[in-house]
Amino acid sequence: MPTRHPTPPRLAFLIGGSEGIGLATARALAARGTSVVLFGRSPAKLEAALSSLGTAGARHAAHALDVRDRAGTEAVLGEALALHGTPQLVLVTAGFARAAWFGEDEVGLAEDIIAVNLLGSMNVARALLPALRTAGTGRLILTSSLAGLVAVPGYTAYSAAKFGVLGFADALRREIHRDGLRVSVLCPPNTRTPGFAAENVDKPAEVLASEEKVRTLSAEDVAEAMLRALPRPPRLIVPGADSRLAALAVRLFPALGDAILRRK
Ligand SMILES: NC(=O)c1ccc[n+]([C@@H]2O[C@H](COP(=O)([O-])OP(=O)(O)OC[C@H]3O[C@@H](n4cnc5c(N)ncnc54)[C@H](OP(=O)(O)O)[C@@H]3O)[C@@H](O)[C@H]2O)c1
Repeated sequence: MPTRHPTPPRLAFLIGGSEGIGLATARALAARGTSVVLFGRSPAKLEAALSSLGTAGARHAAHALDVRDRAGTEAVLGEALALHGTPQLVLVTAGFARAAWFGEDEVGLAEDIIAVNLLGSMNVARALLPALRTAGTGRLILTSSLAGLVAVPGYTAYSAAKFGVLGFADALRREIHRDGLRVSVLCPPNTRTPGFAAENVDKPAEVLASEEKVRTLSAEDVAEAMLRALPRPPRLIVPGADSRLAALAVRLFPALGDAILRRK
């Protein structure tokens, strides 16, 4: 039974909405009557996602874009604003993780992780900010990770990118605080999605073993936690009490973080 959201947005843009956490959020919003506009690279995935939203799909739409492409992202999001209007909610979940020991990672992987997760978030924000600031009441939610609060061995580039998303969002919020637009960061723990399944394919055995006792959420759990927070979105949305406790403990006691998390 989904938790009822008191004032669901009329229109939401979901950047990375064709799969995983973004699609789960699209479904939850569509069920509450929100018109959703999905964005991702693959037109086939977008088409399938749109169909999965059900008969109410007539009110929904999808557009292909690659957040790594600054000019392309600005063009597609500009067209979407003109076609659909200014959304009350923008959720950016376009991103990916790959585990690799630093120095053993394939050439170009770190650059791509940073291009999609960090620069991609900036490209989306840059394209939508003028409209969002003018409207003055919306929510911009970027996605970091628990690995953006607690640096994880095996995820050097990913943790750097996701810590970067937090730094970007904090600075941006302080820059535009007069405009009424709320900027938050979603920090999911491990979540069962196509992206997580792809990440697990070539995860080093040591990293897999270290995750055995870690609880994994469903994409729907994460979407519901995010939507519950929408009326008064905090700086950080961290689904799962155990995730919040872990993040707090490592922030307060970094040496404890080293002891627990260091490579065995
Ligand atoms: N799942 C987890 O365990 C977990 C944990 C912590 C944080 N996160 C973060 O949560 C976010 C969503 O993760 P997820 O597991 O839901 O991922 P997912 O299942 O792989 O879905 C990612 C979505 O983003 C789109 N996308 C990927 N790269 C893109 C690009 N360059 N430009 C535009 N769209 C792009 C994908 O569509 P296309 O492939 O067609 O582009 C897809 O719609 C990511 O930022 C991830 O780092 C995930």
